[in-house]
Amino acid sequence: MAYCRVLMDEIFGRGNFVGTVVWQKIHARNNSAQHLSSVHDYLLVYARSKSDLVLNKIDRTELSDQEFWNPDNDPRGPWRRSDLTASHAYEDGRYEVVGPHGDVFSPRGNRWWSCSRETFDALREDNRIWWGKTGRTFPFRKRFQSELGGLVPTTFWTHDEVGDNRQAKTEVTKLFDRSRIFSTPKPEALLKRVIQIATDPGDVVVDVFAGSGTTAAVAHKMGRRWVTAEILEETAETFTRPRLEKVVAGDDLGGITKTVGWEGGGGFRSLKASPSAFDFADGRVFLADWVEGEDFAAVVAAQLGFMYDSADGGPFCGTKGRARLAVVDGVVDEVVARGVIGRLDEGERAVIVGRGATPEAQSLIAELSPGSKVLKAPRDLVRRGKAVR
Ligand SMILES: C[S@@+](CC[C@H](N)C(=O)[O-])C[C@H]1O[C@@H](n2cnc3c(N)ncnc32)[C@H](O)[C@@H]1O
Repeated sequence: MAYCRVLMDEIFGRGNFVGTVVWQKIHARNNSAQHLSSVHDYLLVYARSKSDLVLNKIDRTELSDQEFWNPDNDPRGPWRRSDLTASHAYEDGRYEVVGPHGDVFSPRGNRWWSCSRETFDALREDNRIWWGKTGRTFPFRKRFQSELGGLVPTTFWTHDEVGDNRQAKTEVTKLFDRSRIFSTPKPEALLKRVIQIATDPGDVVVDVFAGSGTTAAVAHKMGRRWVTAEILEETAETFTRPRLEKVVAGDDLGGITKTVGWEGGGGFRSLKASPSAFDFADGRVFLADWVEGEDFAAVVAAQLGFMYDSADGGPFCGTKGRARLAVVDGVVDEVVARGVIGRLDEGERAVIVGRGATPEAQSLIAELSPGSKVLKAPRDLVRRGKAVR
């Protein structure tokens, strides 16, 4: 965690560090640990720009169920008792009230009512005063769960709020048959908390360590868009994809499904990523060895955002609006340039990519088709070690 924190500081900037959350990942005792039994994990929270960051509050119903009750079956739902007195002197806070059975009450000693008689009477009128089950005890105000706002998230998340490792294993085991055990899943409630705090419906959630696919599954059920990646094909095919297919089909009845009322829907595409087309060494960029022939054209099209079409015919292999892409696995000379430009239709321009280009070819293109251009691969396809569009 400490090393990761330093690394993240470098990436996001120290000023964008928001906090560290401790998550109780294990709640059972383990006496076999040699020194200390590690029962928690960390979430390092960073903002892209802390001054612009707004985090959502946590739904109160998630946390404090036990505090609320409804002994009088109030149609407004569960409520909790709240003191109607305060220790600071309040001009309008000295009066007597009479309970349902004629008992007379007023704050004792150095205490005052915290509201005026008018307010008290209005609360009483609205059945917001609790006189105890017998109707004879000191009055309290009823505060309804449904009327209280959310809670600011804390930095300590317990297993009963967001689940633990054991719960996560049970969730994944229920989804698949027992012959397929994924060893390091996270509980859905944990990801629900993260996603609820940090995103709104429609936002994009990214997890590049998919594993069993918990993040994407929870994001999907919560109406977020998502991107996830898994490096091991076997894991992706055994766990990630089948789990997400079940979520879409409405066949995943576990995890947060009931809490968020998920019934299935939506969809996703799965793609197999190729190895990087670029190698970087000593500040220079090279095309990877596998990038040649047809692969070269496909890589260039993807890199420049053209729709690739190998069967395009003629010199072109991609289209982007009125621009046509021509990729030459060699040097672009005058003959090539003339051939490509000559095949353009009215109003079209060409992007010609080669491993190199002669100055004559460049002048010729500028003269014949001023909107067209020549790019050299890989130099013009990447900028400062990053891929460019
Ligand atoms: C701890 S697991 C993630 C568990 C996940 N949160 C869940 O609930 O199932 C980490 C996963 O990341 C994958 N992984 C590791 N390095 C990766 C990489 N460079 N790109 C994509 N996936 C990677 C591992 O194969 C493993 O499945």
